[in-house]
Amino acid sequence: MTTTASEPASTEEAPFFPAPRTCPFSAPPRHADFREAGGLHKVTIWDGSRHWLATRHADIRAVLSSPSFSADVRHPGFPLVHSNQPEHEGGLFLRLDDPEHVRLRQMLTKEFSVKRTRALREKLLEITDELIDAMLAKGGQADFVRDFALPLPSRAICLILGVPYEDHELFERHANAGTDLDVSHEERARTQREAFEYYAALVARKRREPADDMISRLLADHTGPDGFTPEMLPVLVGILVGAGHETTANMLGLGTVALLLNPGQRDRLRAHPELAPSAAEEMLRYWSIVSTDPRRVALEDVEVGGQLVRKGEGVIVSLIAGNRDPRAFGADEGECPADTLDIGRRARHHVAFGFGTHQCLGQNLARVEMQVAWPRLFERIPGLRLAVAEDELPFKKNSIVYGLTSLPVTW
Ligand code: HEM
Repeated sequence: MTTTASEPASTEEAPFFPAPRTCPFSAPPRHADFREAGGLHKVTIWDGSRHWLATRHADIRAVLSSPSFSADVRHPGFPLVHSNQPEHEGGLFLRLDDPEHVRLRQMLTKEFSVKRTRALREKLLEITDELIDAMLAKGGQADFVRDFALPLPSRAICLILGVPYEDHELFERHANAGTDLDVSHEERARTQREAFEYYAALVARKRREPADDMISRLLADHTGPDGFTPEMLPVLVGILVGAGHETTANMLGLGTVALLLNPGQRDRLRAHPELAPSAAEEMLRYWSIVSTDPRRVALEDVEVGGQLVRKGEGVIVSLIAGNRDPRAFGADEGECPADTLDIGRRARHHVAFGFGTHQCLGQNLARVEMQVAWPRLFERIPGLRLAVAEDELPFKKNSIVYGLTSLPVTW
């Protein structure tokens, strides 16, 4: 049965979005309540506007695969959740609809194909070993985020694109200002300008001195009237560097914490490294790090989960609520409940990478990085453990991407 849109009277009924994870390991409680109640529910964002929140796995997939919804922020009614960003100005990829979106995306899919990323495995293993060697050389204590979780994906995306890793402080600063919702508008705009100038100079250099890297290939094959314009390329490279390291870095930190706090799961992975692919999927599902996206706006009246969403109304999806939905995970006989971590679970239908036409472009790369990192880490440092109490772990509180600001470890 379809219910019509009704405005809730107060923020009690339409709670603030984004909601904090009051327990660092769980979905925000209201998101889980909404999911169990079923249907879509209203939330309030920083500017006082109200939007629908989808929390069930099936409803999330329905929204993200429906052409009745747009990802273009320039449509009135789009949920502009990021209070410190001029989101209404639009952007590349994630903020464009098909056919323009798919036209641009197709120019990059080969670069991030399963084949291309699998071919990187040996190189990633080499980088993993170098980072472990450097950590061990420190003699007993390290910050796992700074010393491992950040440099592994940063070095990988730099290698693919042809960005000098020596400049990592600049792009880490840029990514941090782009995801931390507490960073001021001015600071964010400043790092954005700094990054654009840096990537513009880099693209110009690649134009003069092409090399065997993705920026040079894009310049050779995909610029001109039907390709990326000269103004787009530095922005695109910035998006790929940011998305390519920040997200996976957070997953590597959080996944490592999960294994350290669940020694049974860690020992299982050490004894059965062939579980690395299912462990990576389960970690993606369990943590669901993208906290304020995906978001869409209805282009026409459409029903989702029994709720009528009217043309021009915004919908936000809660990936963590959907990925902990007991209707989608834990429902099979003998399967662990959805809120429990089980690295042997068949979790590949999770929505941590989104769903539909905008599903993560870099998912194969992120997967292979996690699949390489965890077995090697626990093989080489079997005694790895937290150097602080569990309740002292600094989880990010107000960020577009969930994660840890640091992870003190010892062995
Ligand atoms: C564990 C790591 C990652 C997670 C959890 C993640 C998550 C996501 C999600 C949820 C979306 C869809 C957003 C939406 O529909 O609104 C997305 C899109 C995207 N991701 Fe990732 N991502 C990860 C790694 C990467 C990497 C390594 C890259 C490197 C290139 C990347 C590049 C992109 C791009 C370009 C899009 C936009 C795709 C499109 O609009 O067609 N991501 N990602």
